[in-house]
Amino acid sequence: MMKILAITGALRKDSWNTQLLRAVKELAPPEMAIEIVTLHGVPLYDGDEEDKHGVPTSVKALQEKVREADGVIISTPEYNFSVPGVLKNGLDWMSRSGNPFKWKRVGVMGASEGPIGTGRSQYHLRQNLVGLEAITMPKPEIFVALADKKFAHGKLTDETTKKIIVTWLAAFKDWVKRG
Ligand SMILES: Cc1cc2nc3c(=O)[nH]c(=O)nc-3n(C[C@H](O)[C@H](O)[C@H](O)COP(=O)(O)O)c2cc1C
Repeated sequence: MMKILAITGALRKDSWNTQLLRAVKELAPPEMAIEIVTLHGVPLYDGDEEDKHGVPTSVKALQEKVREADGVIISTPEYNFSVPGVLKNGLDWMSRSGNPFKWKRVGVMGASEGPIGTGRSQYHLRQNLVGLEAITMPKPEIFVALADKKFAHGKLTDETTKKIIVTWLAAFKDWVKRG
């Protein structure tokens, strides 16, 4: 069984990005087990706190999950044309004290209500992942634009997006296998 950790970059309960990851989990091949996690409970990075107490327990738990996973999927919203602070902060914390993203196979995707579908934030996230020394899948890509029109009652309803996800998952499975 391939173990995949899926991190959503949004905290809100009805987040399109979290719903997108739920759709990815549903459409995943049977040999892929996907666990979805949020960044709830991760404090703001503070170097003084780190010096005094080390990496917080909430971050250690996430680092452990990343370490144990064969691959990681990150779904990012787009805030002001970039990665939301919540996600960037989570990645910054996780990069401290034994960065578990080093050499990790990662796939990025995102959903937003705008017409670009997180194109700008995903490319900033890809840059952050270079800093983390992750091995990020270049293609195919998933940009869910106008997300508010593609989900209903907590579920992805757009058939084209479902097909894109299935193709993406097949490529990601191969990508992780090469790790
Ligand atoms: C502070 C802020 C900035 C935003 N900036 C963008 C943006 O640059 N591009 C975009 O497509 N959507 C932007 N949005 C709208 C988001 O796409 C929308 O809030 C989306 O639902 C967030 O993702 P989520 O549903 O996973 O929480 C912004 C929203 C917020 C709160």
